[in-house]
Amino acid sequence: MNLAKQNHLNYVDRVNMGAYYTKEIYVQTVWEMITPYLNKQAVILDNSCGYGNFLNMPFIGKKIGNDIDTLAVKKAQENISDAVFLNHNALKNVARKQYSIDENQVLFIIGNPPYNDKTSIIRSHIKTFEMSIDNDILTRDLGMSFLLSYDKLKASFICVLHPLSYLIKPSNFKLLENFNKNYQLIKGHIISSSVFNDSSKSMQFPIAIALYKRSSIGMNYRNIVDFSWQVDDKNFKLSDFDDISHYVKKYPNKYQQVKNDDIFFWTMRDINALKRNQTFVTKHSNNSIIIDKSKLDYYIYIDVFKQFAHRVPYYFGNCNVLIDNDLFQKYKKYFILEALNRHQNLRQYFAPFDFSQTHLLDKAKQKITQYFKQLLGVHYAN
Ligand SMILES: C[S@@+](CC[C@H](N)C(=O)[O-])C[C@H]1O[C@@H](n2cnc3c(N)ncnc32)[C@H](O)[C@@H]1O
Repeated sequence: MNLAKQNHLNYVDRVNMGAYYTKEIYVQTVWEMITPYLNKQAVILDNSCGYGNFLNMPFIGKKIGNDIDTLAVKKAQENISDAVFLNHNALKNVARKQYSIDENQVLFIIGNPPYNDKTSIIRSHIKTFEMSIDNDILTRDLGMSFLLSYDKLKASFICVLHPLSYLIKPSNFKLLENFNKNYQLIKGHIISSSVFNDSSKSMQFPIAIALYKRSSIGMNYRNIVDFSWQVDDKNFKLSDFDDISHYVKKYPNKYQQVKNDDIFFWTMRDINALKRNQTFVTKHSNNSIIIDKSKLDYYIYIDVFKQFAHRVPYYFGNCNVLIDNDLFQKYKKYFILEALNRHQNLRQYFAPFDFSQTHLLDKAKQKITQYFKQLLGVHYAN
């Protein structure tokens, strides 16, 4: 039986419970990552186990599965005979005794907990599911609550799939403070959310398969920025790139008065949001920034970045817009030419510029492509 193919929940329940089961190849990746640290005294727990995929591996020690979904647990029990299965809410009354695990046992937590950002706009119309969660691990996202629960269980090692954004978005990283104090990230792969059956294909986001080790040293945001992630045969490190937040402000200033000749830009979040949203807008709103005209070239940069965003692989999706500023200065005139071909109302701010030479547009596009090749190096998506 294919345990990755969840087939007993309808669409709404699947979204609400974050029930997207994991393919065997990623289960194997997790086991490869934990194996160097495992011994047979260890206890392995997947407390959001679905049909039990992650426990369907040979291991001489104790394996425990749990899921809030009774039918899923039943299937897991039918399919896997050498593990113990429980059926409770893993986020309520979190304690080792829920699973009959002694305080002194070495605990490994593996799996793919649900991710379900309650504030997320994608599919928000069907996220109505409320589950009871211990106060000290309550966040706006089920998956972050799961990470905090692993800390409460004092797991020695954790190897789970979770959105990369939990670590690389500073606001998320902060919500995970209690987790970060006690764990170090020691190994990480990145895969695309599109590998999950019927999860959103149009907007892929990066998922980490991350191995954490309990340690009083913990980790800080700098460790994340400097961490080298493995993606297929490449490595990806945030600190290898500069981003636009160092050149323009990302969020609206609600105290700023609007003037007659102001021009506006939609609020920037990350690259995935830029792909969905507008750039220059004609009306001011809570979601728009009043452009500082001395920085108009950087807003043009972002606008052109959106046009070329298909060159940027999915694993940058949660990052700020990337930039190589020195290189941009060299290529700037091509960016202006390309953007102002689409936004003719902005030409007035570049008066000496000659826009009549439309034959230069193809050349501009080629030059911008060159820029993206240099900016992204091995990561440039063909
Ligand atoms: C992403 S699926 C993963 C299932 C399985 N680990 C796999 O990868 O094949 C998440 C699972 O978490 C379960 N779940 C959601 N909330 C839960 C909770 N509070 N306690 C226990 N399980 C929960 C869902 O029922 C679903 O089976």
